[in-house]
Amino acid sequence: MGNHQSSDARNDTAHTANTAKVTVDPAFVVGPVRRKTFGAFVEHLGRCVYTGIFEPEHPNADDDGFRTDVLELTRELGVSTVRYPGGNFVSGYRWEDGVGPADQRPTRLDLAWHSTDPNLVGVDEFAKWSAKAGVEPMMAVNLGTRGTQEALDILEYCNIKGGTALSEQRKANGAVEPHRITMWCLGNEMDGFWQIGHKKGTEYARLAAETARAMRMIDPKLELVACGSSGPGMPTFGEWERVVLSETYDVVDLISAHQYFEDHGDLQEHLSAGYRMDLFIKDIVSHIDHVKSVKKSTKQVNISFDEWNVWHASRAESKVPSGDDWPVAPALLEDRYTVADAVVVGDLLITLLRNTDRVHSASLAQLVNVIAPIMTEPGGRAWKQTTFHPFALTSRHAAGTVLNLAIESPSIDAEKTTGFSALSAVASYDAESGEAVVFAVNRSASEALTLDAAVGGLGAARVIEAVTYSNKDPYWQATADDSTSVLPAENVNVKLDGGRLTAELPAVSWTMIRLAVES
Ligand code: AHR
Repeated sequence: MGNHQSSDARNDTAHTANTAKVTVDPAFVVGPVRRKTFGAFVEHLGRCVYTGIFEPEHPNADDDGFRTDVLELTRELGVSTVRYPGGNFVSGYRWEDGVGPADQRPTRLDLAWHSTDPNLVGVDEFAKWSAKAGVEPMMAVNLGTRGTQEALDILEYCNIKGGTALSEQRKANGAVEPHRITMWCLGNEMDGFWQIGHKKGTEYARLAAETARAMRMIDPKLELVACGSSGPGMPTFGEWERVVLSETYDVVDLISAHQYFEDHGDLQEHLSAGYRMDLFIKDIVSHIDHVKSVKKSTKQVNISFDEWNVWHASRAESKVPSGDDWPVAPALLEDRYTVADAVVVGDLLITLLRNTDRVHSASLAQLVNVIAPIMTEPGGRAWKQTTFHPFALTSRHAAGTVLNLAIESPSIDAEKTTGFSALSAVASYDAESGEAVVFAVNRSASEALTLDAAVGGLGAARVIEAVTYSNKDPYWQATADDSTSVLPAENVNVKLDGGRLTAELPAVSWTMIRLAVES
């Protein structure tokens, strides 16, 4: 860790190089804590659906074939919206294949993941699963091999009460009440060369605008998401947003952002992920607001960060089958996460919350088995990865408003990414329950950090709970046999003295401090 201050730091010689000074004040409101920040993603990919959420032969399966152990863990994770059915998968998907009597549904090739899909789960099953899990489904339509008409068809099938061919078909299929799905993604990663039906910006922009306009003729209140770039490294990033929003600005609410982070063996670089996500968000915001300004619009388009996570994409786990091998539900993208990965995930959530004024929705990609916090054994156990913990605790305890913290932190230079703050932190404040929560990550790979926070602005406070997730070996991974020997544990070094909160944050750690506040 360098002993200089991060660029936004104020000069202050009263603390040591390894202290980060923070001011928490309920007056510094960024925006609301949005439940939609805590979304996830279920794609027909690998074992996410089959032997993930759905496994009729499993001893814990319910009458609909859903694994109740996974349902329970999903609820414990505190997931709000769940995006479905893809991902790359959706760009070759015929939604009609997944409705009606299961034994009459066609088995299809899934070109995106070189697999075979038996279509035993479709939109009706997913809506049913969502209700059981207590989550809101967020659908994506296929704008790769299909177009406006098919998007209108699935919308009619899902949301019209009855009296039309497709709504009556849904009722005949057993879903008497409409699914009332309000969030819809207009395709997936259409800027990516790997995408089935990959398009130029101008081609996608027209199709997305036409589709959005037509979908709004069915229901003007839908929340529509245009495809943004698949990541900040895309050669068209920026220009893609400009072109897409120039056509769609008036008819969409959100533009998507996707970003994955990989540990290539340099832990300090890996720990800069939150900083890199923050830069990406700021960049997207500038592209959105450029179009807004050119259009002289008073409408505000915001971000749906609907794919984010750690994904070790260059490892063997992500190798898709090839040749004549078209397996059903192969083990794909089954990354095993370390404590360090969990710290990164905690930091990414802090970053999303810190940007709650512009990030209005987000989805951890994905939920089960595929780069996921929840893992299952076919026919066997379900267990929690390390990344489960910061997500579940943040989702459970962040409430009310997001507070912008004044932070003076030592700064870190990693190999490629330089000049980022060692401390990443955010706070939430819920005036109703009288609780303020500080979420903090020490991004240093090697040195502990003292958090020195002025919390007097909150009024009289007491610590309800302080937990830290870290481990002597940051590369420790949970397994089905041992998913509990390293858990978030009480941080005994947290002290609240008058208006001053101090805490020791070990290297590579995620911490949550809950304060009861007397108003
Ligand atoms: O989440 C895995 C894949 O990553 C998704 O299918 C795709 O949208 C992205 O490239």
